[in-house]
Amino acid sequence: MRIDIITVLPELLKSPFDASILKRAIDKNLVEVEIHNLRDYGIGNYKQVDDYQFGGGAGMVLMIEPIDKCISELKGQRNYDEVIYMTPDGERLNQGMANELSLRQNIIMLCGHYKGVDQRVRDQLVTMEISIGDYVLSGGELAAAVLSDSIIRLLPGVLNDETSALTDTFQDNLLAPPVYTRPSRYKEWEVPPILMSGNTPKIEEWREEEALKHTQKRRPDLLED
Ligand code: ADE
Repeated sequence: MRIDIITVLPELLKSPFDASILKRAIDKNLVEVEIHNLRDYGIGNYKQVDDYQFGGGAGMVLMIEPIDKCISELKGQRNYDEVIYMTPDGERLNQGMANELSLRQNIIMLCGHYKGVDQRVRDQLVTMEISIGDYVLSGGELAAAVLSDSIIRLLPGVLNDETSALTDTFQDNLLAPPVYTRPSRYKEWEVPPILMSGNTPKIEEWREEEALKHTQKRRPDLLED
């Protein structure tokens, strides 16, 4: 898989891909992530990428031309399955979307900034709009990092224990059951004895029950689907 991220703030996207699981996935060539500075496609000597909005009003708007130039250049090199615009008014990200996107070959993510992008970018160039939650960030970069992480960790070979993504919270629409590690007793706080029983079927049963209880308590909406 290849992910191309278009941004006016490439430095914001350096560290998320430079540590831990994402770095390992890139180093193992399981995913290629390229960050593109929109300013490289800016207009004129000043490499302008944004302008005032027609009709008046505060805030700058990212112009269509630099974005179109960047996307066209990328599309000249390979086919893209999706051009995703990160925006708080997009479709809210969930595990199902991450699962589906992890099956794609090439994805472009476009990060909005200031007041957003010229509407014609959304109408003509973008194929999907994704929000990572009902709150407004300063730009789409952190959202693109979150979306990338949610996708990349699902790619075959990225997680050491292949089964661990399958038992994640939200797979099967259930929150994950509680987990414990040593010591089995800390102060007067004990680990549920069933987990030390060695009885694997019983432990699995307990985990399923706990996952269900936890979901009923915290996210009953997940059980309605
Ligand atoms: N850009 C700003 N806020 C965002 C959000 N919540 N999700 C995706 N992109 C954003």
